[in-house]
Amino acid sequence: MARTPEIPAARFPTTRMRRNRRDDWNRRLVAEHRLSVDDLIWPVFVHDGKAAREPVSSLPGVDRLSIDELVRDVDEAVALGIPLVAVFPAVDAALKDEDASEAANPDNLACRAVTAVKAAHGDAVGVMCDVALDPFTSHGHDGLLRGGYVVNDETLEVLCRQAVVQARAGCDVIAPSDMMDGRVGAIREALDADGFAHVRIMAYAAKYASALYGPFRDAVGSAPNLAGGDKKTYQMDPGNTDEALREVALDIAEGADMVMVKPGIFYLDVLRRVKDAFGMPTFAYQVSGEYAMLKGAGERGWVDGDRVMAEALLAFKRAGADGILTYAALETARRLTGD
Ligand code: PBG
Repeated sequence: MARTPEIPAARFPTTRMRRNRRDDWNRRLVAEHRLSVDDLIWPVFVHDGKAAREPVSSLPGVDRLSIDELVRDVDEAVALGIPLVAVFPAVDAALKDEDASEAANPDNLACRAVTAVKAAHGDAVGVMCDVALDPFTSHGHDGLLRGGYVVNDETLEVLCRQAVVQARAGCDVIAPSDMMDGRVGAIREALDADGFAHVRIMAYAAKYASALYGPFRDAVGSAPNLAGGDKKTYQMDPGNTDEALREVALDIAEGADMVMVKPGIFYLDVLRRVKDAFGMPTFAYQVSGEYAMLKGAGERGWVDGDRVMAEALLAFKRAGADGILTYAALETARRLTGD
């Protein structure tokens, strides 16, 4: 918890705050927060398309990758020391259906990608997978749709099957992003029952129904399926923060090892409250829309894109994040390591 300073006895001119800012060595010496490569989680998109690399037009610098290319890109991430990669599948539209049956296919794209990365890199890097049905549903929702409503309890069964096939494929961290009630507990039980007590759960604990997920939905191809629909009946209202604490408390009680606040930069107040309240390993997701805004302004020369990105990522650390999911992980790791 940040201390509130008392009014100091010694004031100007005895006290001069600028003394400690005078020189670079001094600024480095008194820096309170720093970003390191160890803080970075890199989300990547994988596809079965013909092109090895297919640019995502609303995410500058981000490509959908074939599994081969993914393994090659993860080579660099490992060399730079990035600890965790989050794999998101852009599933062929022909494989999507109402009930997301492909989500539980042990040979689905996400599972094949995980197995390939783990085969190439072993424990040099962790692999994380979302648990949510949106990459696999013909309607683009994260759960099963019954009479136009995303139903909770029936969805849990599919989420558990999805988590188990991902764990069997070698996934180290299961990240439920679906916002169904009770999913963390259900998934924990399903993983344990299948011999995966060591597989970690990073809960998308406080996840808001945000307008910032657009480019992600383009990248995984769920945007046309969702057809302008929203996820307000399961994701949180952007006006609420007490509710975020209740969501996080429940996920911890159900067995989450790590918690996440999402989106990032508009929700730093939530991040700070969550970190202070629970002291859990706490992560922020700099989501696709915020990445795209920073990159877009940088490309136009309206801001210095690299410096603004560095400042945004530092802001997450300052607000209490132990780490950040960012599409800029690779370029940031290069910057931090001088590569
Ligand atoms: C899937 C999921 C989404 C994101 C991560 N997992 C989209 C959504 O909930 O609609 C968004 C990530 C981003 O925008 O970068 N449930």
